[in-house]
Amino acid sequence: MHAAPRPLTLAADGPLSGHVRVPGDKSISHRALMLSALAVGTSRVSGLLEGEDVLATAAALRACGAGIDRQADGDWLIDGVGVGGLLQPLNALDMGNSGTSTRLLMGLFASHALTVTFVGDASLSRRPMQRVIDPLRRMGADISASPGGRLPLMQRGLCPAIPIVHDLPVASAQVKSAVLLAGLNAPGATTVIERTPTRDHSERMLAGFGAEVTVEPVPGGSAITVRGGAELRPRDIVVPGDPSSAAFPAVAALIVPGSEVLIEGVGLNPTRDGLYRVLAMMGADIARENSRLVGGEPVADLRVRAGPLIGIEVPPEVAPSMIDEYPILFVAAALASGRTVMRGIEELRVKESDRIATMAAGLRACGVECEEVPDGLIVTGRDGAPVPGGATVASMLDHRIAMSFAVLGLRADQPVIVDDAAPIATSFPDFLPLMTGLGARVG
Ligand code: S3P
Repeated sequence: MHAAPRPLTLAADGPLSGHVRVPGDKSISHRALMLSALAVGTSRVSGLLEGEDVLATAAALRACGAGIDRQADGDWLIDGVGVGGLLQPLNALDMGNSGTSTRLLMGLFASHALTVTFVGDASLSRRPMQRVIDPLRRMGADISASPGGRLPLMQRGLCPAIPIVHDLPVASAQVKSAVLLAGLNAPGATTVIERTPTRDHSERMLAGFGAEVTVEPVPGGSAITVRGGAELRPRDIVVPGDPSSAAFPAVAALIVPGSEVLIEGVGLNPTRDGLYRVLAMMGADIARENSRLVGGEPVADLRVRAGPLIGIEVPPEVAPSMIDEYPILFVAAALASGRTVMRGIEELRVKESDRIATMAAGLRACGVECEEVPDGLIVTGRDGAPVPGGATVASMLDHRIAMSFAVLGLRADQPVIVDDAAPIATSFPDFLPLMTGLGARVG
């Protein structure tokens, strides 16, 4: 929820340099809170992202009886109530801007005998929920949504739920996770079939908490199965740095001449690192140093040096592993040489904003040539020359749009004014101090 819009302009007078750490991974932070709340006993989470989206998840779980206490920066203790043990909340649950909170909690609550009302901000209230409503109804949940399968919606769960096999119609880690979470309190096996691999943090973390999870190849994809009824054991979880947040300082360092930046402790799960693979295909100088495992997730430090980028055709099959990174990839493409063709990404139209249309409008306003197609965007790069800029761009309640245009401003002749930077607090509250620490200037 934001009050008055907060405009933001970033500029660079010289190279960016320094060592930084980005905040904890948003997807993993949500899941760490949710699974800890269902364990029997106390879990500790360190490196938790304290952005508005994750705080919405924490508040919802607290309203349902889980003990959730912040000990220090990023360090949280969670007293779980056991699978099936959540209590009826007294008020509607405000999900703010967070699609992940909404969809995953709908799944989690679907196998509890609770009546829960979900509300959200204007952006979230436009987003499609039918993709979770359909399978959760088959599991026994009674759901009344607003027209078009949107928020506000009211859900009455069934305890225990009915186990199902769900073949995902769209590649979505949120829908996969919602069904698996509901399956924790269903007798026997609940299976999700996915045709394209999406982020697998839920599967990894469920196994870490002691749930029985299997992943098996099936014709044309894989079947992920959770067995209901297991008791989850509390854990200590260390949340790695968010590769989706690291993307902003990384692209900033690539496009501001002479820059060299080290981003420490970035999660590079292969279901999430698509942007870094695509940037390498474009000729980016990004070295992975000190590769290691943190909390069961692959992590490395990224050393990023500025240099020329070459436009490419981005293979559509990479999309699920970088679905949140296209806005900042569009910015990299704007500074590359030649055309960058990005197709097969129609899912971007149902994110916090229509990210294809919003980015196309802002890029054009800043003097970047681009062609919007139904399933993507084709950007004609400026061959390393700065973009003209000199425009105010609309962030449309979308944190990643706001940060992408703030980064574009670093390589613009005239200021790029982001009309409202307040949404950045949903995922990256310290974006501004981090960028100014690297040498960017608030313009
Ligand atoms: C997320 C999955 C993705 C992603 C979102 C976080 C998750 O959404 O865009 O930011 O944590 O599972 P979809 O499942 O809709 O692709």
